[in-house]
Amino acid sequence: MRRRLAALPLLAVPILALAAALTGADGVRTAGAVAAADPLAVEAGFSALRAGGNAADAAVAVALALAVVHPEAGNLGGGGFAVIRQGGEVRALDFRETAPAGATRDMFLAPDRSPVPERSLVGPLAAGVPGSPAGLYELHRACGRLPWRDVVAPAIDLARRGFPVGEHLSRSIEDKADLLSRFRETSRIWLPRGHAPRPGTVMRLPILAGTLEAYARRGPRAILEGPAAEAIVRASRRHGGILTARDLAAYEPVWREPIRFEAFGWEIASMPLPSSGGILLGETLGLVERLGYDEIPRDDAARGHLLVEAWRRAFADRFLLGDPATTRASAAALLAPARLDALAAGVPRERASLSRDAEPGSLLPGAERRETTHLSVVDGDGDAVAMTVTLNGNFGCGLLVPEVGFLLNNEMDDFATAPGRPNLWGLVQGEANAVAPGKRMLSSMAPTIAWRGRDVLVLGSPGGSHIPTATAQVLLNVVVDGDRLSGAVERPRIHHQWLPDEVAAEPAWPDEARRALEALGHRVVEEDRIGEVHAVRRRADGTIEAAADPRGPGASGVEPGRRP
Ligand code: GLY
Repeated sequence: MRRRLAALPLLAVPILALAAALTGADGVRTAGAVAAADPLAVEAGFSALRAGGNAADAAVAVALALAVVHPEAGNLGGGGFAVIRQGGEVRALDFRETAPAGATRDMFLAPDRSPVPERSLVGPLAAGVPGSPAGLYELHRACGRLPWRDVVAPAIDLARRGFPVGEHLSRSIEDKADLLSRFRETSRIWLPRGHAPRPGTVMRLPILAGTLEAYARRGPRAILEGPAAEAIVRASRRHGGILTARDLAAYEPVWREPIRFEAFGWEIASMPLPSSGGILLGETLGLVERLGYDEIPRDDAARGHLLVEAWRRAFADRFLLGDPATTRASAAALLAPARLDALAAGVPRERASLSRDAEPGSLLPGAERRETTHLSVVDGDGDAVAMTVTLNGNFGCGLLVPEVGFLLNNEMDDFATAPGRPNLWGLVQGEANAVAPGKRMLSSMAPTIAWRGRDVLVLGSPGGSHIPTATAQVLLNVVVDGDRLSGAVERPRIHHQWLPDEVAAEPAWPDEARRALEALGHRVVEEDRIGEVHAVRRRADGTIEAAADPRGPGASGVEPGRRP
């Protein structure tokens, strides 16, 4: 199969002019836009839009295609979150993995109670109960309009007929060869003859195609019950995991109220617990707006200082968070305007504060990484889906279940496997996020939709703790500085997450701004890349922008739709 790229405006090419022409005097109606981590997945979204599908149909088609062509993070064996805006109503779907019923608080500790990180990262003991099969199906059931099998069809086609391995995929397999080579089941597919398939090799995945065909016929029961579920349990047991058939059959996605707030004249909806992403974003924007971010000249390092101080406080609060079923700190309390006023009043302008002084939950009343993948879709009606899916680390726990053809996640590492010690993302987390059976592990994913009247912006990012900070910066670039989307996504970024107490800056972050931050007392370190934001925007006049982050291999484009 040829890679059908010619028709796609790729990467972060500014395409506003193209989109405007498509909606112009010739009467062609723009059907929508898609941005995601792989051009073939973007094409799957377009095919759903062309068939008359809406943003939910397209988002599910993209996510399933990513499960084939972007196996680092696209998945059936992991989970994710989506924020959906349809007919003005906003909802959030949680299809996060859950801890198996046999999970225990200390399962990742050695007898001397020291953490054994490998256990929560490698092999199926690290795997939570997959949420994607039931979650993607539920998103389509509740919000889609195409027949289910039509939404799954592009992914089946990619797996059955094959797709050319891109340079990016070849490199990321090679980067994870140590992990993947631990499991014969995985090496057979992804390390044939001991190496990653070379770029251009056509990859056919007939077993995964069969799984997807069954999923198209019977929905999630085809994966979470019966022979497929038995195969998952067997593979897990064989390598020391604890997943059971009952865990798989019992999994349910949950509809939740999104985190909603206003900032800089825009309404914003993002993911609630068990993701901390929406709370982190709400605190960040709430604090920097109070601190006059928009009155500071764009290239002044004072803006960076305010962001860092906001993140320091927001990520300290993250220590209190976990599965909403067991978390006592509420989003409403953390984001209460009076609390944000008081937190903002405590931010020093002329020097860095210290993370050790940033108390989690202070002032409460009474108290690139590349992993993960994000996709953004907007359709011709302005309805939108922001979705982030993940296996946690690239290729998850490394184990591919041979009978179903997909990898299991290593999401258990997102729990505070040893409260107070850093996880894969360097995040120090609290008791609220300790391991417990059936519990959802805390995330940082922040699929986000922002709107002002009929102007709709959809965005999000992979990257663990980088997710909310990258998302916040792109959002600010658009809503405060009026950037076109491609420019907003491309601009260099910084990051801070309370602990460690350091500012990470991309190499392109200006030296002058770095020196200014250091003069205020911030420790600045270089970080290759911070997030990988894929965003689309439908302006009030119907023109559309789409931008894939040039930091990754993604693609974006506008689907022109049919003549009315
Ligand atoms: N697995 C990374 C996150 O959910 O934040």
